[in-house]
Amino acid sequence: MTSVRLEPWGEGDLHLLLKTLGDPEMTKHLGGPESEEKLLERQGRFERLADSGTGRMFKIVDEGSGESVGSVGYWHRDWRGEDVFEIGWMVIPEFQGRGIAAAATEQAVAHARADGGPGMIHAFPGVENAPSNAICRKLGFELVEEIDFEYPPGSTMRCNDWRLDLS
Ligand SMILES: CC(C)(COP(=O)(O)OP(=O)(O)OC[C@H]1O[C@@H](n2cnc3c(N)ncnc32)[C@H](O)[C@@H]1OP(=O)(O)O)[C@@H](O)C(=O)NCCC(=O)NCCS
Repeated sequence: MTSVRLEPWGEGDLHLLLKTLGDPEMTKHLGGPESEEKLLERQGRFERLADSGTGRMFKIVDEGSGESVGSVGYWHRDWRGEDVFEIGWMVIPEFQGRGIAAAATEQAVAHARADGGPGMIHAFPGVENAPSNAICRKLGFELVEEIDFEYPPGSTMRCNDWRLDLS
């Protein structure tokens, strides 16, 4: 299996946002690519996330080549009246199918646990997103239910609500 490490999202990582949230194929389960303006805004938010204390965003780095191959991060959200973490992940197409998203997500969950924030972490993959649902299952998340989830703002997606108890 490919070995990866997580590094905090940095100033030079906009290119990775263009290859992930800016790419039509990568966002087919996520309501389509974001505009350049939205991506620039997002880059600023990702850079500030750790300092704001509301979450963490990491780039996933392939240990072998040193290449940046994706992103994983978690942030606070209110979920049914409770403060929880939400987690999300992306791996660029050339590096998919090698267990990278699962390994990186496992590392991010360990960071979330060590952060000592909310006791519960949720993931909301689209019901059709087979690899992401497989990752949740593999990492021991519990499937709560199928829900209509608002993403991107203004649109509704059919998603699974998966949660993992961090305590
Ligand atoms: C979802 C995504 C991150 C998966 O990345 P990846 O590095 O290829 O994932 P992994 O290699 O870790 O595979 C995860 C699991 O999915 C399984 N899988 C992969 N493709 C699959 C498919 N089409 N059907 C069923 N299972 C599949 C793998 O077998 C693996 O399970 P296993 O470890 O039990 O064998 C990547 O496809 C992606 O970035 N997609 C676009 C963005 C996105 O949808 N992000 C998720 C938002 S919640």
